[in-house]
Amino acid sequence: MSNFVLEARHINKTFNDGKNHVEVIQDLSLGVKPGEFVSIVGSSGSGKSTLLHVLGGLDCPTSGEVYLQGKRFDTLGEAERGFLRNQHLGFVYQFHHLLPEFTALENVAMPLMLRQGSHFKQVKQQAEYLLERVGLSHRLSHQPGELSGGERQRVAMARALVAKPALMLADEPTGNLDRKTAVKIFELLTDLRQEFNMAMLIVTHDEELAKSADSILHMQDGVWVD
Ligand SMILES: Nc1ncnc2c1ncn2[C@@H]1O[C@H](COP(=O)(O)OP(=O)(O)OP(=O)(O)O)[C@@H](O)[C@H]1O
Ligand SMILES: [Mg+2]
Repeated sequence: MSNFVLEARHINKTFNDGKNHVEVIQDLSLGVKPGEFVSIVGSSGSGKSTLLHVLGGLDCPTSGEVYLQGKRFDTLGEAERGFLRNQHLGFVYQFHHLLPEFTALENVAMPLMLRQGSHFKQVKQQAEYLLERVGLSHRLSHQPGELSGGERQRVAMARALVAKPALMLADEPTGNLDRKTAVKIFELLTDLRQEFNMAMLIVTHDEELAKSADSILHMQDGVWVD
């Protein structure tokens, strides 16, 4: 058994649509231990989001291996990968990807319903709790289009955390937030990380946030640099 929640070995990712051939990630390896907080920093276009998508099973590596809770993850079929992602991972996207037709509360309740096969009524309280923790008790019945950018980001965060995943993958979680809210949200993440014994892998441009991690990885043109 590996002692990583998530492990990636020798990941390469190339996009090739016939017209453009882009080598985005080159021979990257990484491991995240249970409860560990790792941050990834790097300039725009260096491959951070691409890596996160591959690690979260949203995209496949061109070569290399991804293990989630010790189980080979990247070679599984779509359905099984989706199932495992739902069991173990919470994902905060760079662009929030909330379901526009549903309220904030329903968006947050969704992963719990999927994971536990529960009805909305059974998970409502837990979803409300998370929305309260991100400071949105007064916006439960708003749809994403009726929320500000920062509020949407906080709903996305509540959604990623509600099922108490072993690992949260977050792409610029505080990118759309003002300094004060960013600090508050970050403190909240730290609290919840301890409460749920959750590991976090966060892509950020926020130096302060990055520095408080157990380890910082610097990415440049798809490779780690010192
Ligand atoms: N589907 C795709 N097809 C072709 N090229 C792509 C595709 N997705 C990403 N790229 C290219 O890969 C590179 C890395 O993109 P990525 O989104 O991972 O960067 P990033 O580090 O997250 O940047 P940012 O900080 O701006 O979010 C970019 O140059 C981008 O143009
Ligand atoms: Mg990105």
